[in-house]
Amino acid sequence: MDHSAAFQEYEQAALAAIAAAADADALEQVRVEFLGKKKGRLKDLQAVVGKVSAEERPVVGKQFNEVKDKVSAAFEARKSDLNKPQAAAAGLDISLPGVVPRLGKRHPLSQTMDDFKDIIGRMGFTVAEGPEIEDEHHNFVALNIPEDHPARDPLDNFYLSAAAYANGQAPERLHLLRSQTSTVQIRVMEQTKPPIRIVSLGRVYRPDTIDATHSCMFHQMEGLMVGEGVTMAQLKTVLRLFATTYLGQDVRIRFRPSFFPFTEPSVEVDMSWSDDWLEIGGAGMVDPNVLREVGYDPDEVSGFAFGLGIERFCMRRHHVTDIRRFYENDVRFLAQF
Ligand code: DAH
Repeated sequence: MDHSAAFQEYEQAALAAIAAAADADALEQVRVEFLGKKKGRLKDLQAVVGKVSAEERPVVGKQFNEVKDKVSAAFEARKSDLNKPQAAAAGLDISLPGVVPRLGKRHPLSQTMDDFKDIIGRMGFTVAEGPEIEDEHHNFVALNIPEDHPARDPLDNFYLSAAAYANGQAPERLHLLRSQTSTVQIRVMEQTKPPIRIVSLGRVYRPDTIDATHSCMFHQMEGLMVGEGVTMAQLKTVLRLFATTYLGQDVRIRFRPSFFPFTEPSVEVDMSWSDDWLEIGGAGMVDPNVLREVGYDPDEVSGFAFGLGIERFCMRRHHVTDIRRFYENDVRFLAQF
């Protein structure tokens, strides 16, 4: 065979084999076949060089070395590729420092809820979760809210239509978007024995007319503490401490006698807001009927509960005057937090 044809054939075959080697073992076999010093295709090629005339030898010898160097370089490159981690082979350098995300931050209400969990957590309350689609039992019945109570009016709740359920059969229990987070009190007590000290934060839904301070979806933080000898004085201390920690020492908290079916006695909680008072939630001592409903003995344990509106705290702290801002997703508003 003519020597340049032999060089060409060797080079093409070697480069193809190197590129095709899928791992280090395969590559090593390619090395032995094409670059081995004792025998193999490089040796054969050398024999071709040995056969050319003395005049031609310097030129052909130089060509031989060029081909050999080219194949060796391809071999080394492939070898270092196979040694790299896969991400790096794909062109990613995972050792580069991370980039701080430039777009987006946590929503002000999410930030507020994080702060709430942090503050109330220092008082020993852990976080419990409950579903947003609830049944009448947890939203009303177990909370001592009777059938004819106005809070159960279809016009004041988002009931889910029975027809929406599969096979056209009305479910045993009617479901609704929960109107309060007090539902989680029941869920926790059903599953745990006292002592209990939990909060639950999340969305609630009511078909209210939307204005600057009302929305048909908003957030509450529910609190529940049950145990031996839990008192109203403790409730007031927890709420005062909570409010002043979040809003500052100058905020004043007021308790007004009120009524809730699931607490007795009940209070409404107000905070001072520019020479006036703004309601921030309800609270009270857990009604004995509620304790009995979940299998507790009201002669052994007592408890307090509270439900606070999260938006109102966030609004006061950040001087937001319209609750609708929170839900409009206007980045000019959101970027300020
Ligand atoms: N669930 C009540 C509401 O949404 C607020 C509330 C009042 C919660 C008294 C409580 C409580 O835990 O004890 O209006």
